[in-house]
Amino acid sequence: MEFSAAVQGRRTVRRFKQIQVKQSEIREMLNAARLSSSGGNIQPLRYIVIQTPELVSGIFANTAWGGLVKPRRNPEPGKTAPLTFIAVVGPRDSSNIIHADAGAAIQSMTLTAYSLGIGCCWLGAFRRENVDTLLALPEDSAVIYLLAVGYPDELPVEEDISAGMPVEYHLDDNDVLHVPKFTVDAITEWR
Ligand SMILES: Cc1cc2nc3c(=O)[nH]c(=O)nc-3n(C[C@H](O)[C@H](O)[C@H](O)COP(=O)(O)O)c2cc1C
Repeated sequence: MEFSAAVQGRRTVRRFKQIQVKQSEIREMLNAARLSSSGGNIQPLRYIVIQTPELVSGIFANTAWGGLVKPRRNPEPGKTAPLTFIAVVGPRDSSNIIHADAGAAIQSMTLTAYSLGIGCCWLGAFRRENVDTLLALPEDSAVIYLLAVGYPDELPVEEDISAGMPVEYHLDDNDVLHVPKFTVDAITEWR
């Protein structure tokens, strides 16, 4: 896949097929994560791939999905919920730089995933204490973000919007998710 096609076509997916993603594909995503930019090249992030059904259900129960399209994009266990999560783990009370590292790594993973036909949902809304406990993390570590991973069972679409237009993602009458994105001219000044 052309890189620009991946950048333009990737959308957050919140409905997944009930087929486990191949381990080789997850490894390809993790390879992209490890090669991503890192402030000072410290590489403080660690990854936990969660595929054990009981652990996946436990993590899932502590996540929140698509706040603007609730309840229609709440994945349903056994029907549309993800079978894999990747936990991005860093030091507890991570600095902004480490959060930026996490963003770079996650973007690399989501783009790699998309090029492999895999969808992801980057999750920042989850009960952090519960998730850290479920993963039995040491006191000095914490999950910074979760990434839900799976073969997509929906095809959200992007739509260009100009300055001042509403940014809320929304579902149409056919249950297709629309994701408004500002055009370059709406968000850029040239000086
Ligand atoms: C830092 C961050 C946290 C996010 N947390 C959540 C979340 O907790 N739940 C969710 O359903 N989506 C979450 N998202 C996904 C956004 O809703 C999504 O990126 C946005 O709607 C734009 O859609 P797109 O990814 O298809 O461009 C998060 C995205 C980012 C970057």
